Amino acid sequence: MRLAGKVAVISGGGSGIGRATAILFAREGARVVIGNRNVTAGEATVACICAEGGEARYVRTDVTVAADVQRLIESAVQVHSKLDCLFNNAGINMPGSVLDVPETDWDYTMAVNLKSVFLGCKYALPHLIRNGGGTIINNSSNAGLIGRPNDPVYCASKYGVVGLTKSMALLHGPQNVRVNVICPGPVESNMTVEGRRAMGAAAYDRKVAGETALKRIASAEEVAELVVFLASDAARNITGAAIPTDGGKTAGLLPGLVPVS
Ligand SMILES: NC(=O)c1ccc[n+]([C@@H]2O[C@H](COP(=O)([O-])OP(=O)(O)OC[C@H]3O[C@@H](n4cnc5c(N)ncnc54)[C@H](O)[C@@H]3O)[C@@H](O)[C@H]2O)c1
Repeated sequence: MRLAGKVAVISGGGSGIGRATAILFAREGARVVIGNRNVTAGEATVACICAEGGEARYVRTDVTVAADVQRLIESAVQVHSKLDCLFNNAGINMPGSVLDVPETDWDYTMAVNLKSVFLGCKYALPHLIRNGGGTIINNSSNAGLIGRPNDPVYCASKYGVVGLTKSMALLHGPQNVRVNVICPGPVESNMTVEGRRAMGAAAYDRKVAGETALKRIASAEEVAELVVFLASDAARNITGAAIPTDGGKTAGLLPGLVPVS
């Protein structure tokens, strides 16, 4: 098992990529602590892991609230006496032109997508350093590597996650703390459900898959595989990396593809 004996905190573990990662972490031997705002969803992930014989617990967490994030981290350390890994995963998308997006939506997107990562790192780092090292994996997006016309606010928050990651990797490498960021392309989750609702399923799938070189939408489990790898000792030489798992979406402009929002 690739994560045997490790203790991991995962934010947004109640659905999508966070849920798939929590389940795979547990299968790989990690003891998992899930922070999620939605109680039912967080507890459902825990129940799923425990039913498989894994070890998991849930702490109700709004990642925009410093005291919640601190409690999430501290409760993991209190129960397991250490922390090895933090996956800052919770995120939202509020699309729309800068002309239309209200200031409150800007503030909330930044709080959920970027400030939450800062808070998670702030409270986890002392424990990772005391532990002799550890790993932080942040969830950005392909929108943290390239612009998207209808997602300026989301892009700004996700570029911020990349910058935070790289800077932290430089400073905390000597303390044996590895900090990496994943940049998924389209992934099956609540976000794709919302996209299909807004655009119609067939049109959405054609557009979104068509923007990737591999012409596909990934499963959350495929993204979880990358997170497990980065959390494992197999990635011991990797830090400060922004790694796409996007079917080639950010590799360059595809022939004949007119970029759309
Ligand atoms: N699905 C995609 O296509 C895609 C692509 C690139 C990046 N991402 C990123 O992946 C991450 C996970 O998203 P997902 O695709 O699994 O969607 P999702 O909506 O299924 O998961 C997001 C999770 O974050 C939680 N969350 C939201 N706000 C929160 C808050 N304030 N406090 C605590 N938890 C909160 C939600 O409850 C949910 O469990 C996000 O950061 C997203 O930006 C997703």
